[in-house]
Amino acid sequence: MPDHVVIFDTTLRDGEQSPGASLNTAEKLEIAHALELLKVDVIEAGFPITSPDDFEAVNRVAKEVRGSTVCGLARAVERDIVRAAEALEPAKRPRIHVFVATSPIHREHQLRKSKSEVLKMAVEGVTRARSFVEDVEFSPMDASRTEPDYLAEVVAAAIDAGAATVNIPDTVGYAIPDAYAELIASLFESVGNIGKAVISVHCHNDLGLAVSNSLAAVKAGARQVECSVNGLGERAGNAALEEVVMALRTRRDHFGIDTRVVTNRLTATSHLVATLTGISVQRNKAVVGENAFAHESGIHQDGILKERTTYEIMNPDDVGAQASKLVLGKHSGRHALRSSVEEMGFTLDEKQLDDLFARFKVLADKKKEIYDDDLAAIVEEELTTTPDLFELLSFHISSGNTLVPTATVRIRKCETGETECDAATGDGPVDAIYNCVNRITGIESKLVDYRIRAVTVGRDAQGEVSLRLDSGGVKANGRAVSTDILEASARAYVRAVNRVAAGLHGQRSAAQ
Ligand code: KIV
Ligand code: ZN
Repeated sequence: MPDHVVIFDTTLRDGEQSPGASLNTAEKLEIAHALELLKVDVIEAGFPITSPDDFEAVNRVAKEVRGSTVCGLARAVERDIVRAAEALEPAKRPRIHVFVATSPIHREHQLRKSKSEVLKMAVEGVTRARSFVEDVEFSPMDASRTEPDYLAEVVAAAIDAGAATVNIPDTVGYAIPDAYAELIASLFESVGNIGKAVISVHCHNDLGLAVSNSLAAVKAGARQVECSVNGLGERAGNAALEEVVMALRTRRDHFGIDTRVVTNRLTATSHLVATLTGISVQRNKAVVGENAFAHESGIHQDGILKERTTYEIMNPDDVGAQASKLVLGKHSGRHALRSSVEEMGFTLDEKQLDDLFARFKVLADKKKEIYDDDLAAIVEEELTTTPDLFELLSFHISSGNTLVPTATVRIRKCETGETECDAATGDGPVDAIYNCVNRITGIESKLVDYRIRAVTVGRDAQGEVSLRLDSGGVKANGRAVSTDILEASARAYVRAVNRVAAGLHGQRSAAQ
């Protein structure tokens, strides 16, 4: 018996059967090499009888892969087995995987054969495969819906015929963990020669239980798990390799057994398979999803910053993922904000942090995710503030293709504390705001440069406005960011006006 759980990867066979996932031979080879580096024990490279391309792919993988057993699938019929043997001919360690359906539904409706006829096919198939290779695996397809007594009879016969591995497939994802574990345990009790074979499981995910069923079977004595990268496979897919492997690794205390997989290659392999098949991984996918090590809640972020294991059961390094990511959003707290800002190289005092936190919360209500560039933009704005003579309190715009753009702006004059409100028109909404600011502040200036750009990606990205004013030779820049480009335009302008006002003030003081 193996001292570890054998990982049998079927990404290139069952996984490739996912609608829309077909791969060419070069792509299959690339994945096979990645699986070899991952140190999976067995690579099921295809089903050679199904097409010349499948034959070619299995044959190339058999030629090139040296570190893992290479397996080809065959129905329990002569021509399939011969074709699989031919494809596997160059393999260092070849395995033929023979299957026949054993459940009453399949026997009656698909095969139209009796129990004894199916049993005979199984025995003859395994015997024929053994005439080509030492390592033969047998699968009674739809085992989880097969009569347990009959299943035990077929398993015993396949082992007698020379199968070194017997797989118990849950072909249609019908099994429930405790019942499936009982089925495996019952085979260990009722099949006399079971000690001569490795018992394997192959679970489909129709009820979302493929990984749970596989793990329950390991607990009951199974020592091979058939799985696929990213859980690809027929319909809802197969048990996800990365989940099975990391459950066994993380909870070795519970299972008492592990695999030989090099886990820090899991993320890279997952990306490769997603890219080549075109089937991307959902963000919140366990182990390899983009959010698998991302934390947004303030309480969680605080915990992670104090001690990673408060909210992480796996180390991102162990699966080859980037270090835990604190995603700043509306649930984030001051601790996470300070940490992100300091990581970006800014040092803020308590007052600056308070102001930044207030702005950050306003931004987080408007924008779901706050990227480093968003944060850098508002930090720089906070850090470069000159003493304000004018504070923009609010503005309102009425604009449209049949209206004269009109702005109403409310500004506080900081020296006197009075608030002034006025309205003005313009060529466009930005021009209307600027005219209105000029009227209230009494500072006439020429806009000599105005630029706008999106700070980050997406429709909710912040817009950054940078502009330059010239007021009778006194020049000043202004910059502001907001998810509303009119707000960014207004704030950048008022900021520049404040600098112009400070400059004019300086000129006057020098003249006195
Ligand atoms: O799901 C299944 O039963 C299979 C067999 C060929 C093992 O894929
Ligand atoms: Zn399958």
